[in-house]
Amino acid sequence: MADAKFLTFEGLDGSGKSTHLRRAAEWLRARGDEVLVTHEPGGTPLGNAIRGLFLDARWGRMDGKVEALLVFASRRQHLLELVEPTLDSGVHVLCDRFTDSSLAYQGGGRGLGADWILELDGLATCGRRPDATLLFDLQPEAAMQRGQKNDRKGGDGPDRLDVEGLSFYRAVRDTYLDLVAAEPGRFRVVDSEGEREETWRQVEVVLEDLFR
Ligand code: TYD
Repeated sequence: MADAKFLTFEGLDGSGKSTHLRRAAEWLRARGDEVLVTHEPGGTPLGNAIRGLFLDARWGRMDGKVEALLVFASRRQHLLELVEPTLDSGVHVLCDRFTDSSLAYQGGGRGLGADWILELDGLATCGRRPDATLLFDLQPEAAMQRGQKNDRKGGDGPDRLDVEGLSFYRAVRDTYLDLVAAEPGRFRVVDSEGEREETWRQVEVVLEDLFR
């Protein structure tokens, strides 16, 4: 079916995107739509193995190009094995992070720039873009504070990117905002600074518009 949509959720770690992605999936299911929830890096058995390598704090700082090669290997497998077949079967796909994360984290945060990432993207995905992307925007200071709170609640301890400093996350956010400016038709910016319900109300408005 042609009307299955590919939506991606982007933002800094701690922006609340993953919580709202799950809620968006419930919102769609409540209106009778079928939805697949997935994430990157990962989403397939091979992708999850790559994700483990990518996030493992034991390696310390990885070169940005090594990072990009890993996430694009995961992404290609994800598209071939899961995302495209699911869309072809008429099921919406809601994906936590996609190529915009590589542009923001490796292109911006690691300073690789867009050209190298876009070249790799052309090889790995033929420049595949989602139908729409929700960007959960907030100041890096606030995102980092929320991230630290989440760590205190338990979990596996900090991953390899959790230890990056403010200047890294500022560069990531600035790159996200540049992407929005370059492609305003695809991006929907959600202000994530407020309470969870305030953020959700904005997400609902976006969903109502996309699935009218
Ligand atoms: P994850 O635990 O999923 O964090 P989050 O809940 O914030 O998504 O870890 C994913 C990390 O990988 C996150 O710090 C962003 C990073 N990442 C990249 O650097 N490049 C990429 O292309 C992708 C998909 C993720």
